[in-house]
Amino acid sequence: MAQVICIANQKGGVGKTTTAINLSASLAVFEKRTLLVDCDPQANATSGMGLDKNALRRTLYQGLLGDSAAQALVQDSAIPALKLIASNVELIGFEVEMMAAAGRETLLRELLAPLRPAFDYIILDCPPSLSLLTLNALTAADALIIPLQCEFYALEGLGQLLQTVKRIKRALNPALEVGGILLTMFDRRTNLAHQVAAEAERHFKDLVFKTTSSTTRPPRAPRAISNWPVRSCTPV
Ligand SMILES: Nc1ncnc2c1ncn2[C@@H]1O[C@H](COP(=O)(O)OP(=O)(O)O)[C@@H](O)[C@H]1O
Ligand SMILES: [Mg+2]
Repeated sequence: MAQVICIANQKGGVGKTTTAINLSASLAVFEKRTLLVDCDPQANATSGMGLDKNALRRTLYQGLLGDSAAQALVQDSAIPALKLIASNVELIGFEVEMMAAAGRETLLRELLAPLRPAFDYIILDCPPSLSLLTLNALTAADALIIPLQCEFYALEGLGQLLQTVKRIKRALNPALEVGGILLTMFDRRTNLAHQVAAEAERHFKDLVFKTTSSTTRPPRAPRAISNWPVRSCTPV
């Protein structure tokens, strides 16, 4: 039965999608059956996996609206053990159309339920907001990983995210745990990176992963997963 891991932080550009793709690819390279679900209408995980966002026939949107079974949404990738449920900009419509629907926060959990026995891990890449899509992802997840970019305002907004986690745990998903905080774009040569790491550890103690996602300079150009040599898919 798959463990469902949600990658969320309402800030944009902190490394959610990069973490989601690298974690998924790494698990799959180690032959864990892994499903990456792109829950962001910007669909960077979809294009990062090498798919053309404009040429998709079935996406998460159709699944969430009940117009497609989950199995029909699952697509292959360049790595045999790694599958994807893709998205595109249509997914914005989900927020609008479902805003007043009863049970709107549990739609993703219900959609993924029949897929859980077929995978070891399901990774959910979230949009940069605490929108209905993120609430759905938190409601569907067993664990939350929070990428925290090592920059000046890193910890701002984290309180709001953790409050949301508490509310979801109480009302919708008692199983949800914070799996950990991943320091991203960690440049060990700067004082700022070490200050952010120290501050995060002071507040969140053992929740901060010892493994960091180091910064690459100049920033790595986005690269479709189909172009990766398998050996480069090292854990983040
Ligand atoms: N470790 C890293 N080193 C350098 N650049 C990175 C690193 N991780 C992510 N980036 C870059 O930072 C930008 C934001 O990353 P992304 O994963 O898209 O964030 P999010 O999904 O949170 O918006 C992207 O241009 C990405 O290529
Ligand atoms: Mg993203």
